[in-house]
Parts: sequence; structure tokens; C-alpha cells
Amino acid sequence: MEKGVLVEQGTVREVYKNPQHPYTKKLIAAAPGKGEMHAPLAGTEPVLRVRDVRKSYGAFQALKGISFDLMAGETMAVVGESGSGKSTLARILLRLDEPDSGSALWKGRDLFTLSPADLYKLRRDLQMVFQDPTQSLNPRMTVYQLISEAWVIHPDILPKAKWRARVAELLTQVGLGPEHMGRHPHQFSGGQRQRIAIARALALEPKLIICDEAVSALDVSVQAQVIALLDRLRQEMGIAFIFIAHDLPVVRDFADHVMVMQRGEVVELGTVREIFETPKQAYTQALLAAGLDPDPDVQARHRAERLARAP
Ligand SMILES: Nc1ncnc2c1ncn2[C@@H]1O[C@H](COP(=O)(O)OP(=O)(O)OP(=O)(O)O)[C@@H](O)[C@H]1O
Ligand SMILES: [Mg+2]
Repeated sequence: MEKGVLVEQGTVREVYKNPQHPYTKKLIAAAPGKGEMHAPLAGTEPVLRVRDVRKSYGAFQALKGISFDLMAGETMAVVGESGSGKSTLARILLRLDEPDSGSALWKGRDLFTLSPADLYKLRRDLQMVFQDPTQSLNPRMTVYQLISEAWVIHPDILPKAKWRARVAELLTQVGLGPEHMGRHPHQFSGGQRQRIAIARALALEPKLIICDEAVSALDVSVQAQVIALLDRLRQEMGIAFIFIAHDLPVVRDFADHVMVMQRGEVVELGTVREIFETPKQAYTQALLAAGLDPDPDVQARHRAERLARAP
């Protein structure tokens, strides 16, 4: 469907192998995982240095000692099966949840021991975009209020006279428009709401954005747009990203490093090229096989192989 109109229908194979409508063709062409891979930044000092982060919920160990470095302007993708601890790690890094032990040095200061007042000041630098934007967007506020709220809290960012123009600019950057300013969150689709959440995070001009499945709800063509936007911000503003995803192809086009998590541990960490071209762990290889090719025949073959391997 496009703009409320049925433009094409058929079996999965007909539509995938022989698309007729330009919009269908565009969607298939936008499938991620075909672009150039990044060469990671070399030689700079890490802005974030995470060491041995542990977290248990009762007897259950959700994080069993996570360590990694992140450079300014770099993207660390975090992938792994459901329940592997990705969101827990994200929440702990932003102190939305407290770790049991470990450290996270942001520009040399440990985020885990900052006072509430210092943490408040740093909040501006560290933003998060969640999987489900309905939870982070107050339904009573308009889009204009949601985005400009950041400047009410941090008035030094932008004088009030410039708010409307800047909101319009941010909306345009994420593929919406100034005409959407007066609307409330429920008047948007899920994918559009996610773009509002991204615009809101950008309003604070952060240095690090943690995206937890932030583009998973978007269709591939919009996904490609949003990722291109994030990539541009990274280059222009040096924003670093921790990009949590189920979807390995998305990560391939965007990440510098990939961290593979399973049951609260890092099973493999390497450059995007290392992970995609020479994965060392069987678990990483299985994740790659499961996600890489949108071709229905290839997917059917993978499913059959998985079934054959299952006990
Ligand atoms: N507040 C909590 N209390 C108890 N257990 C929790 C809590 N938060 C997370 N867990 C457990 O920790 C584990 C890791 O959860 P987490 O949300 O980090 O997984 P995830 O990798 O983000 O998964 P998904 O890909 O499904 O989002 C899960 O087994 C979860 O049940
Ligand atoms: Mg999660």
C-alpha cells in the first residue's frame, strides 16, 4: 500500500522477484545491507570507556561484565538475540537503571558515580531514542511542544525567537514537515512518531545518542532515510552512536564496530568488516545467516537449515 491505495498484490515470490509498481520497486531497492561498509576511525581517544559492567535482577545475571570503547563520531552497533541484555546496557549507561558494578567514563568522568546535579548537566550530551516512541512522547503535547521542550529545560541552546524555525528544520531533517507542528502524537503512524522522537533527541545537540531499535518500526525506504540522516549528523556534528538492532543488514551500512551479545556477555566485538566477512563465533555466523538476505528463497533455505539443525 502507498498513501492509502493498494498499488500491487501477489504472492511473496511474484512481488519480490518481479515487482511491477515503481513504489514496490523502490521498497525492494531500499533493502539495507548493500552499501559500502565503514572503515572505523583510527587513533582518536575514546569519549566513552565502559568497563566490566554487571547487573543482576535477583539471581538472574542480565549483564556479566561488559567492556568496550567508543570514539567521538563513531557508531557501535549492539546486536544479539532477544533477552541478551542490550536494552539493560543502554538503560544503565544513561543511569535510567543502576549497575551493580563497573564504570563508564564519559570524557574521563564516571557516569555511574556522578551526583544527580552533574548527571543533569550531562543529560544534554547523552540522549536516547527508544524502541517504542509512544512511551516517550507525552500524548497531551503537540509536536512543537515536544521538540521545543528541550530548550525550555536548557535555555542556553536557542533563544525563543528561533524555536519555530528550528522545529521546522528538525522536522524536515527527519522526513516530516512544518505542517506537522500542531499535531499530537496519536495523529501519526508508528514510524512517524519514531521520527518525532529522533527530532526531539537532536534538538539538544547531543554528543552521544543511544538508539534502541530506533528504526525497527520504520519501512525500509524510511529506514534508509533516517539512517542517512544519522550518518550525516555523525559526520557534521561528530555525534557518536550506540545503535541497538535486531536487524543485521541495517547495521552493516552504518556501523563502525559491531558488538555481539548473548546472555549478558559480549561474545564477539570487531569492525563491521570483521563481523560481516570473517565472523569468528558460531553465534555471530547464525545471526548473519538469519538476517542478511531479503530474497524469500534464500530465507526459506535458511529456515529449512535451522529446522534440520534443531534437536
Ligand atoms: N527490571 C528487570 N527485572 C527483572 N529482569 C529484568 C529487568 N530488566 C531486564 N530484565 C531481564 O534481563 C534480560 C535482558 O533484558 P533486555 O531488555 O536487556 O534484553 P534485550 O537484549 O534488550 O532484548 P530485546 O531484543 O528483546 O529487546 C531479560 O531476560 C529480562 O527479562
Ligand atoms: Mg531491548
